[in-house]
Amino acid sequence: MTEEGEKLLSIKDLKTHFFTERGVVKAVDGINLEIGKGKILGLVGESGSGKTVTALSIVRLVSYPGKILNGYILFQNENLLEKNEREMRHIRGNRISMIFQDPMSCLNPVFTVGDQVAEAIRLHQDIPRSEIEQSVVNIFEKVGIPDAKKRLKEHPHKFSGGMRQRVMIAMALSCHPDLLIADEPTTNLDVTIQLQILNLMRKIKRDFKTSILLITHDLGVIAEMADHVAVMYAGKIMEYSDVVEVFSNPLHPYTKALLESVPRLDVETRRLRVIPGTVPELLNPPDGCRFSPRCAYTREVCRKEVPPLIEIKRGHSVACLRMNDIDTERGDNNV
Ligand SMILES: Nc1ncnc2c1ncn2[C@@H]1O[C@H](COP(=O)(O)OP(=O)(O)O)[C@@H](O)[C@H]1O
Ligand SMILES: [Mg+2]
Repeated sequence: MTEEGEKLLSIKDLKTHFFTERGVVKAVDGINLEIGKGKILGLVGESGSGKTVTALSIVRLVSYPGKILNGYILFQNENLLEKNEREMRHIRGNRISMIFQDPMSCLNPVFTVGDQVAEAIRLHQDIPRSEIEQSVVNIFEKVGIPDAKKRLKEHPHKFSGGMRQRVMIAMALSCHPDLLIADEPTTNLDVTIQLQILNLMRKIKRDFKTSILLITHDLGVIAEMADHVAVMYAGKIMEYSDVVEVFSNPLHPYTKALLESVPRLDVETRRLRVIPGTVPELLNPPDGCRFSPRCAYTREVCRKEVPPLIEIKRGHSVACLRMNDIDTERGDNNV
């Protein structure tokens, strides 16, 4: 146990590449991450950064032609990369649950939502048949589905996006997981529903001491929810720290650029900056720092050397070769 608390998950030097006909896509390229017990780690970055592939690597659901090449994923002191498929299935069913952006992809349109949640409970909990319906009602109430007794007899298409997301969370919770991986869980929902789902996840963390890996491209969600933040870009972790530090003292130019691109209520929106350029194709990632082609502070060295992720003060790590220079310097691309 460290002073900061016990770790539930530690990822070290994880590499997940896709061996496509066009070449090797280095989607996740040597990342380190940690999630504390009962904590929320926010994994943030633009679309195409490798966040989903990271999540799929943890539960070992990377599909062909993807392959985990390197590293370890220590979960409750067991290396998940050494588990066979049967053991992984057990872990996925009982200790790690995942919820996705699109709940319809997980719900079967043919069965009622009640039957589907009941099935999840039957698989994971040892309770008599006669009590399963009541458990479904209980869990529906816990995730805020009103009129639970009636609604469990309905099919998924009768549910709104927000309600479907709740059904999926109910299924994910039915096995009392130690780790919940939520990949853009609120991305397609309107703001009010989004807040309700986020509050629900906060409640889950509080009531069940569940650790959560919360994946999003939305820094607002991170600010509200996360204890720690990992900023991912083009298959690499660029910055890692606790949430207060990331927002008050961001050190990586990519983190700074991300923060400047978030609309704020207290700042005129015309000053909003967009990060120039796009996330590179990971088939041929740039040499050196992967952010260097878009970075306002790039120098020759950045295009040659890959910056290691270095802990520059307790609990705050940054992967930037020029991090000590840029505070005194305006970025070339800044206007
Ligand atoms: N099955 C696949 N085959 C080839 N490339 C893939 C596959 N799945 C993901 N990728 C690539 O991996 C990179 C990271 O994708 P992803 O993890 O989905 O990003 P994010 O979730 O951050 O938006 C992207 O460049 C994407 O094109
Ligand atoms: Mg994704």
